[in-house]
Amino acid sequence: MQPVSYRLESAWQPEGGPKGRLTFVLFNLSELPLSGFRLVYTSLTRVVDPAACQNATFLRRNANFHEFAPPEGLVLARGESWTFSVSGLNREARHCTDGAKSAYLTLSDGRHVPVAVSDLRLEGATSEPPPARLPEGRVGLPFALQPWPAKIDAVAGEGLPDVLFPAAGSSAEDMEAIDNVLALHHRLFPAGHAPFSLAPSGQGRPIVFAKSGELGGEAYRLAFSGREIRLEYGQAAGRQYGLTTLAQLLDGARRHAARFRFPAAGTIADQPRYGWRGCHLDVARQFYPTADVMRLIDILAWFKLNVFHWHLTDDEAWRLEIKAFLTLTTLGVMRGPDEPLLPQLGNGAAPVGGFYAQEEVKAIVAHAAALNVEVVPEIDIPGHSTAALVALPELADGQEAPESYHSVQGYPNNALNPAVPFTYEFLEKVFDEMVALFPSRYVHVGGDEVANGSWLASPLARKLMEVQGISGTFALQSHFLKKVKQMLTARGRKLVGWNEVAHGGGVGTEDTLLMAWENPRVGIELAREGYDVVMTPGQAYYLDMAQADAWQEPGASWAGTATPEHTYAYEAEGEFPEELKSRMKGVQACIWSEHFLSRDYFNRLVFPRLPAIAEAAWTPKAQKDWLRFAAIAPLGPML
Ligand code: ACM
Repeated sequence: MQPVSYRLESAWQPEGGPKGRLTFVLFNLSELPLSGFRLVYTSLTRVVDPAACQNATFLRRNANFHEFAPPEGLVLARGESWTFSVSGLNREARHCTDGAKSAYLTLSDGRHVPVAVSDLRLEGATSEPPPARLPEGRVGLPFALQPWPAKIDAVAGEGLPDVLFPAAGSSAEDMEAIDNVLALHHRLFPAGHAPFSLAPSGQGRPIVFAKSGELGGEAYRLAFSGREIRLEYGQAAGRQYGLTTLAQLLDGARRHAARFRFPAAGTIADQPRYGWRGCHLDVARQFYPTADVMRLIDILAWFKLNVFHWHLTDDEAWRLEIKAFLTLTTLGVMRGPDEPLLPQLGNGAAPVGGFYAQEEVKAIVAHAAALNVEVVPEIDIPGHSTAALVALPELADGQEAPESYHSVQGYPNNALNPAVPFTYEFLEKVFDEMVALFPSRYVHVGGDEVANGSWLASPLARKLMEVQGISGTFALQSHFLKKVKQMLTARGRKLVGWNEVAHGGGVGTEDTLLMAWENPRVGIELAREGYDVVMTPGQAYYLDMAQADAWQEPGASWAGTATPEHTYAYEAEGEFPEELKSRMKGVQACIWSEHFLSRDYFNRLVFPRLPAIAEAAWTPKAQKDWLRFAAIAPLGPML
């Protein structure tokens, strides 16, 4: 790769405007003088007042894509720089990741050339290093289990069994279950000592399996002695969790012998606190190859999470191959300077794409199923649909005024139109293909963040409102989502959506599950309205939120700061009145990808908060212990 010859630096002055000021300096380090160019950068701190920019001309913006021209006649010789600033911003910057995430130049001959960027520098104050995210912690019982079991009454042994193996007479299914968790351990810790073997070992200990009709499907019991380990389980999931517990116990005792041991005697009686223990991944803002998705599913299984919520579409891309509409994953995924979708969120001069072919989807679903993880696919409609609208322009009402509304992320006219008949033809075919790919009982249809005012400049939508005797964006949204629900019901599936599905009249509560993301109170209100709910409040469970207020801590801040301790301690059930508790089906981590431009940022933001949520999903409140969690978390896997 050629070294990049241009660099854009950005700094933040809190006092420089009503919402502060961003100052940019473009350096020319190339051999040639630079003139007659335009500069593009992507930034979530958006310019909303084009007039409030100094020493540059604002040309255009699309969501977080920004384009500027330098002052007329500017020529930058090698080593020279151009400084400009913008102060008409949509919000204040709070963290080092709030500046330019990428940049490029468009030269006078039309070529696009890369520009290196640095994280946003804070000016006029010292940006202290971020605090440690985990204390050293302490353990009472010396066992490296995460999530911690419901009941444990075990005595630590001095030595370790070399491996655990199926007792003579174990069934092929029991052996296969060992093989499965052994392979999982090997994928997550390829250099680690195998916890199991199928062959007996004189230095090992046999596992005696027993299926129990008394235990729930995900429950298991372990009884330890110097001679053998008895594993009773409800169903296959319970057996897998029992074996995962054994693998974690051995792994921790080997890797951190000063702190952790393997039980010599005693029992573990374990079952999950909640049935829905989810983790969501946004693959639209950034693309994750199939191998990364499978590894994340491995990590979920290691932490006994059982739902992978796959956010497959958004404004920035439609990642799911739909054979009836191939442009969704050609036109609807490529982002670049000359592509129908402009660069966003870290994209530069080079076009980027990525989607999941149906064969890959099947492989991912099968991988998850083998680990008792259910894949719940999401297509985010009617809002967040720029990519679909770019791929299939016939989805729009051609008479609707352009830029008649903007989403909170700054996308113009980005919602599927409930009054365009093709919208429903399109969705029928998409759902047909989705239900063939995803065996889950649930299909997630988004429903979030439709901008108030959407469709009001669409003549077709106005006509529909008149005919239906309804008015306003959210009444129309409810009309649309009721039809979507009928499509899912006809296919034997339940509707999952974000909390705004309930707006404007909502949809029927039966077989509907809503995710409370805006704040915890919303979850209680939805339960009161009769919806089943999963709690995903941004304030605790959005893993893209920064983990401290420090400037140098990466991540978003619109929902506040979520320290790992806060995420761990948060009790989603907290304020639920007793009579509504049965509607609360579980909890879920959400991995929104706007800031995840590198593996480093992913791992830094997702861990240790993902296992913290896994423990909140599994472990009874009375057994939660932050310091114990902190001691064990460093042993966990990362992407
Ligand atoms: C969401 O964060 N818009 C669900």
